[in-house]
Amino acid sequence: MTQADIGVYGLGTMGSALALNLAENGFDVAVSNREADWIGTFVSKAKDLDGDLTGHTELPDFVQAIKTPRTILFMIPSGAPMDDMIDTVVPYLTNGDTIIDGGNADFNATRARTKRLEGTGIHFVGMGVSGGAEGARHGPSMMVGGTAYSWAQFRPMAEAISAKFEGDPCVAHLGPDGAGHFVKTVHNGIEYADMQMIAEIYGIQRDLAGLPAPQIGKMFADWSDGPLSSYLIESAAAVLRAKDAATGAAMIEVILDQAGQKGTGRWTLIEALKLGQSASTIEAAVGARGWSSEKAVRVAAQEALDIGKQEVALPSEADLADAMLAGRILAHAQGFRVMAAASDEFGWNLDMARIAEIWRAGCIIRSALLDVFADAFRAELPHGHMILSPEMVARLGDCLPGLRRVVAAAAMAGQPVPALAAALAWNDSMALARGTADMIQGLRDYFGAHGFARVDQDGTHHGTWDG
Ligand code: 6PG
Repeated sequence: MTQADIGVYGLGTMGSALALNLAENGFDVAVSNREADWIGTFVSKAKDLDGDLTGHTELPDFVQAIKTPRTILFMIPSGAPMDDMIDTVVPYLTNGDTIIDGGNADFNATRARTKRLEGTGIHFVGMGVSGGAEGARHGPSMMVGGTAYSWAQFRPMAEAISAKFEGDPCVAHLGPDGAGHFVKTVHNGIEYADMQMIAEIYGIQRDLAGLPAPQIGKMFADWSDGPLSSYLIESAAAVLRAKDAATGAAMIEVILDQAGQKGTGRWTLIEALKLGQSASTIEAAVGARGWSSEKAVRVAAQEALDIGKQEVALPSEADLADAMLAGRILAHAQGFRVMAAASDEFGWNLDMARIAEIWRAGCIIRSALLDVFADAFRAELPHGHMILSPEMVARLGDCLPGLRRVVAAAAMAGQPVPALAAALAWNDSMALARGTADMIQGLRDYFGAHGFARVDQDGTHHGTWDG
C-alpha cells in the first residue's frame, strides 16, 4: 500500500476541509480524529478526489501510514489539547518528522513548543490558516513559521492547496518558531478593526440616516467595485441583504447586538503593548466587542443618560467610503508596525511585502488595498513607515477629510465610532511634528523629578519649578 504524503489529525470544519483540499490536489492523505466515529463518515464522503484519503482510528496506525520524513497537520483546539497531543504523538515519530499546528495558537505557546522539541529531531511548525471553512476547502491564505527544513517538506503541498493571487500562491514561510502564528494573530487584529469600522458605518446609516438594512447593504455592494473592494465589504452587503427565514425580517434585525470573540484580537493588543506599540484601532474593536456584552447596562444607560446629542448634517456616502478607506489604511499600518516591532524583537526578519502579498487572496482581510501595500513595502519606505510611502500619502490626502467629517459628525450626534476615531487620532498624532509629550515630561519631572530631554542640549535635565 502506498504511504500518505501527509497526515491530517482533527476532522472538525477546518481540518476536514484542508484534508479534502489536499486530496483534491492529488496528495494522498491519512486522516484521524479523537472521536473515532467521525473518521469513517468523513472518508466515505470524500470519494472521487485525485488523492487517496485513508482513515485511521488508532494513532500509531495513522502515523505509520505517512511517508517519512512525516508531515502531520494538527487541526485541533489550541492550548492544552495541543500540548497533550505533542506528548501523545512524539513517541511514535522519528527523526526529521514535522508536527504542524494549524490552529489559531498564541505565538508564545508556539515558541515554547518549538523550544521543547529542540534537540529531539522532531520539528514544530506554527501555521496560521485564514479563510474560514470555504477558504480551507478551496484555497486558504497560510502563514507558516518553523524551520526551513519543515517548509521544504511542506511547501509543494502548501502551495498547491493555497489561494492564488494572479497565480502567486498565498502562502509563505515567514520566519522561525512563532512567526507564522504571530502574523496570523495580527491578521485577526486587523480583521477585528476592519469589521468594527464596517459596523460603525452601518450604525451611522441605521441610526442617523435611518436607512433600512437592504439599502445599507446596497451601499456596501456599490463599494465592492472600487478601492474598498474586499471580502469583508462584500460580506457586509450580504449580511445586510439577507432575510430571516422565520420572520421574513432583515436577518440583521433579529441578531442580538452582542459580539463574541475567541481571543486573537486581544492577543494582538497584548503583544503590541509589550513591544511598546499601540494598535489603537484594534484596541477600539476589541473594546467595542467587550462593551457590546453589557447589553443590560446599555439599555438602562440609554434611558438614564442625556448624552447631549447635537443636530448635524448627515455624512455623505462618499465621506463614509473615504472614512472606511482611511480607517482601513491606518488599521493595517498599525498592524504592520506591530509586526515590524516583533520581527526586531524576535529576530524573525519578517518580509512585510510578502505578508501583504499572501493576504491578497484567500484570507478574511483580502482586499484591493493589499496589493497596494505590497508595492509600498517593496519600495524604499521613509522611516520604514507605510503611511509615508508616496502612494499612501496621496491616498490618505484624498480620504482623510472624509474620515474627519464622519468622526466629527458622529461625535456631535452621539453616535459611537471608536475605531474610526482611533484611526483619526493616531493619524493626527503621527502627523504632528511638535506633539504634547512636552507637557507629560514636564508633569513627570514636576511631581516626580523623572527628568526630561531638552530641545537645545544633550542629556537629562530637571526643571526649575516654582511652587
Ligand atoms: C480567519 C479568521 C478565523 C477566526 C474567526 C473568528 O482568518 O479565517 O480570522 O481564524 O477564528 O474570524 O474569530 P473571533 O471569534 O475571535 O471573531
